[in-house]
Amino acid sequence: MKAVRFGRFGGPEVLEIVDLPEPHAGAGEVRVAVRAAGVNPSDWKKRRGLMDPELPQTLGYEAAGVVDELGEGVSDVAVGDRVFGFSTGGAAQAEFAVLAYYAPVPPSLGFAEAAAIPAALETATRALDQLGVGSGATLLVNGASGSVGSAAVQLAVARGARVIGTAGPANHEYLRELGAEAVAYGEGMAGRVRALAPDGVDLALDVAGSGVLPELVQLAGGAENVLTVADFAGSQEHGVRFSRGDAGRAVHALGEVGALVEAGRFALPVARTFPLADVADAHRAGESGGARGKLVLVVG
Ligand SMILES: NC(=O)c1ccc[n+]([C@@H]2O[C@H](COP(=O)([O-])OP(=O)(O)OC[C@H]3O[C@@H](n4cnc5c(N)ncnc54)[C@H](OP(=O)(O)O)[C@@H]3O)[C@@H](O)[C@H]2O)c1
Repeated sequence: MKAVRFGRFGGPEVLEIVDLPEPHAGAGEVRVAVRAAGVNPSDWKKRRGLMDPELPQTLGYEAAGVVDELGEGVSDVAVGDRVFGFSTGGAAQAEFAVLAYYAPVPPSLGFAEAAAIPAALETATRALDQLGVGSGATLLVNGASGSVGSAAVQLAVARGARVIGTAGPANHEYLRELGAEAVAYGEGMAGRVRALAPDGVDLALDVAGSGVLPELVQLAGGAENVLTVADFAGSQEHGVRFSRGDAGRAVHALGEVGALVEAGRFALPVARTFPLADVADAHRAGESGGARGKLVLVVG
């Protein structure tokens, strides 16, 4: 089967489409014929050699497709079902992928829209769970217009929180549509948040990794009320929790999001789709920034 892989670290040109043996579903897993697979910032961090040291590496956390093989003990889906979820071993950008965690694709979504959801949804849910965001809390999301940020905004609003989000000016109306109050990031951000919340916020989530953890700690009244998914060095320096998926993923979110999607309360826009063979162009588009929404590879 065709799959995305790189055998050395570097720019988008190191990405190759190679032939790999088809994977098979282990106990509790399903194999899908992949129809779409999401592209994430960690893909280019891995490709540049900033994450895992081993080579070669395959890519792809998330996929949507049609079940074509059931692992031992799987009875909640059948061959032919449309599912989306997380790939075993980070190899979803391929013609076939094994999913360890999966759920039915919400009926109103196509494959590309579904493949855009799992990683951002899981990260946002994990962050809100770890922060303890619930009804009545005021939450500040720094980097609220991106994939993880907009997922966090929508999920926090659904939990009954008041959400203030930072974004570039072009995305303020988008944040308001999601149910957040929008402020610009950059110089003076803390003052703009205080204009909306004079006593500060209860909790703050940093999704942008833009070096503002001291401001978030002040606004939220202590480092224990702040969490980042994108600023590891800052988290060490300022005593803020850093959340990463390998310490336990909030996979429960996959089975819960369908109801929100069908109620019109959760969506992640797909900015662009690319054929699998054009994965290098997807990286170029992602690394240059500015696109609102997910980049998705379509297969077949
Ligand atoms: N730790 C984990 O488990 C985990 C999991 C998934 C992702 N992540 C990390 O989370 C980060 C976000 O991922 P993503 O997929 O959501 O990225 P994305 O969709 O590309 O979003 C990036 C967002 O950052 C915003 N931004 C840029 N500069 C900013 C600034 N100075 N202040 C505030 N916001 C700013 C942009 O907003 P505008 O367009 O409005 O300017 C854009 O919406 C990445 O670093 C990724 O590696 C971590």
